[in-house]
Amino acid sequence: MTRRARVVGYGSYLPEKVFTNSDLEKIIDTTDEWISSRTGIRERHVAAEGEMTSHLATRASEAALANAGLDASGVDVIVLGTATPDETFPAAATKVQSALGAHQAFAFDIQAACSGFIYALAVADNFIRLGQADTALVIGAETFTRLLDWKDRSTCVLFGDGAGAVVLKASEEAGTSDDRGVLSTHLHSDGRQHDLLYANGGPSLNQVAGVVKMEGQEVFRHAVSRLSGVLKEALEANGLKPEDVDWVVPHQANRRILESTARKLGLPMERMVVTVDRHANTSAASIPLALAVAAADGRLKEGDLVLLEAMGAGFTWAAAALRW
Ligand code: ACO
Repeated sequence: MTRRARVVGYGSYLPEKVFTNSDLEKIIDTTDEWISSRTGIRERHVAAEGEMTSHLATRASEAALANAGLDASGVDVIVLGTATPDETFPAAATKVQSALGAHQAFAFDIQAACSGFIYALAVADNFIRLGQADTALVIGAETFTRLLDWKDRSTCVLFGDGAGAVVLKASEEAGTSDDRGVLSTHLHSDGRQHDLLYANGGPSLNQVAGVVKMEGQEVFRHAVSRLSGVLKEALEANGLKPEDVDWVVPHQANRRILESTARKLGLPMERMVVTVDRHANTSAASIPLALAVAAADGRLKEGDLVLLEAMGAGFTWAAAALRW
């Protein structure tokens, strides 16, 4: 028998305010046509003034706990993937812990930019596998629009705010790829690509949060090869083939990246869960947001093989294989 982390609940939260491409046309030199044809993005949600990452994360977590039928007092560990914490310290996860009343848990943030949710999932999965936790709350939450230079049309059209969460619970499984729960996680980073995507601020650098700086075409090129590579790695690790995959729930950066990745793997686009049109790139929040959409509309069914994949600044990139 093998101890695995099974997804027993999911939830998400999007700020009320929706900012469409036409709204952007009013503030910068861009068009709906340019944005939607290059990225697939049509609109994004933007956090209200005073609404912080921990607030979005708390709302998503409350929904996930309700969906799991669990009380916050049953959570052992809270892992929050975010690149936009409320404060430099403490971890936004501890604010979520307090807001939920999960006082017996231990809570911390993970910083892996857009790969943050899969990194957080991997950490929680390992706590559960090792028996150090039975129940974990894994969150991806961002107020990424706070890191945008609204005069830089090459970056500000790409991102949005939001949060998603899953509840994981320990479960004794047979130890095969038919098990339900997280089957494997695959994490990578390469710090040599720092200059292609970063925020030009930080507490140690210049004491400000900074804004996003990106070499878009280079990021695109790396993303497609890294993402198809890490998905193959996840399949091979479990003795599975592309045709075994029911759903890929990818990080939502750009529809063209998703199409190229699907093509490289030989997967039809219909197997990709796409929310980038409505959410834009919400960094670490994009995968749990997309998971929640596909679970709520009935696409994810018990026993489905689901692959998660992400790539982000660092570079970091990662995949997870799980059975829903
Ligand atoms: N509206 C109108 N024109 C624009 C805009 C805009 N918002 N932004 C740039 N342009 C112009 C440029 O100025 C340029 O004009 P020029 O030819 O007169 O110089 C022209 O459009 C083409 O610019 P490129 O940067 O070459 O456009 P490209 O086709 O590469 O598309 C994009 C840019 C969409 C950013 C693309 O490179 C991309 O998606 N890269 C991936 C980046 C990404 O997703 N990053 C997210 C974080 S990492 C991750 O999550 C994987």
